[in-house]
Amino acid sequence: MTIAYLNGQFLPLAEARISPLDRGFLFADGVYEVIPVYAGQPFRLAEHLRRLDYSLDAIALPSPHTHAQWEQICSELIQRNTAQHLSIYLQITRGVPIKREHAFPTATTAPTVFAMVHPMAIPESDQPSTATGIKAITAKDLRWKRCDIKSIGLLPNLLMSQLAASQGAAEAILINEGFAMEGASSNLFIVKDGMVITPPKSHKILGGVTRNVIIELCLANNVAVREENIPLSLLQEADEIWATSSTRAILPVVMLDDKPVGDGAPGPVWLKMAHHYTHFKRRLCGLE
Ligand code: PDD
Repeated sequence: MTIAYLNGQFLPLAEARISPLDRGFLFADGVYEVIPVYAGQPFRLAEHLRRLDYSLDAIALPSPHTHAQWEQICSELIQRNTAQHLSIYLQITRGVPIKREHAFPTATTAPTVFAMVHPMAIPESDQPSTATGIKAITAKDLRWKRCDIKSIGLLPNLLMSQLAASQGAAEAILINEGFAMEGASSNLFIVKDGMVITPPKSHKILGGVTRNVIIELCLANNVAVREENIPLSLLQEADEIWATSSTRAILPVVMLDDKPVGDGAPGPVWLKMAHHYTHFKRRLCGLE
């Protein structure tokens, strides 16, 4: 039985109830985080909590908890659920006012705090020798102008993810005014002539926690990396393409719009970074 957390209580997920007046339900007025947990150890929890503060601040919603309290909620959720590897989904909305009204409710309306866990599959980067990679498509970026906020308003992302799924692809790479920005639910890296390139942080992408780890690991291991805009033409000529996220780690894209990326198999720079990422994660989580 999956145990969830709702407004101060741990309870079976199936018993969690939220009012239809919740502003998350009516307006998508809220933010979220997804935190990977390996063998009971949250990975980069402090960074996820910092980004949560950033998102809350950006939508002028005071954080209902300190980092120590969030950590306590996460650790209790991990203890109460049994999966080895899981991801914690954390959502905060602007609560349940007495009526539907666009302007914010008064400060007495308490936010709704919800968290649940999902079992997490072992990412391909943990077993690089058997990795097959994924297919991706390019799609017009349909989102708003604050993609740096981890908003629960994900309808454009869902439309683009579904477009990918309908074409047998596992990710859509979003094209904004001729530039590849990120995936519908991941950050984007390419490799061209040995150089790793990822778009710089801006309001046009989510500042991914996994993205930051990959950049750090490139720098620590003498892998040349640059934060630079990626024109669509460069994406199409890339030797390697990777999608990174908390739930998928670092994943090679081997087909783009039905054309092979490089030689159509996970590339050598990916293999190297998958190795570094996996070891880093295992070390941090006390697994080696
Ligand atoms: N998504 N960009 C977008 C649009 C995302 O939705 C995500 C993650 C990322 C990667 O961020 P991080 O490395 O911090 O997970 C980039 C999560 C996993 C989700 O929505 O489920």
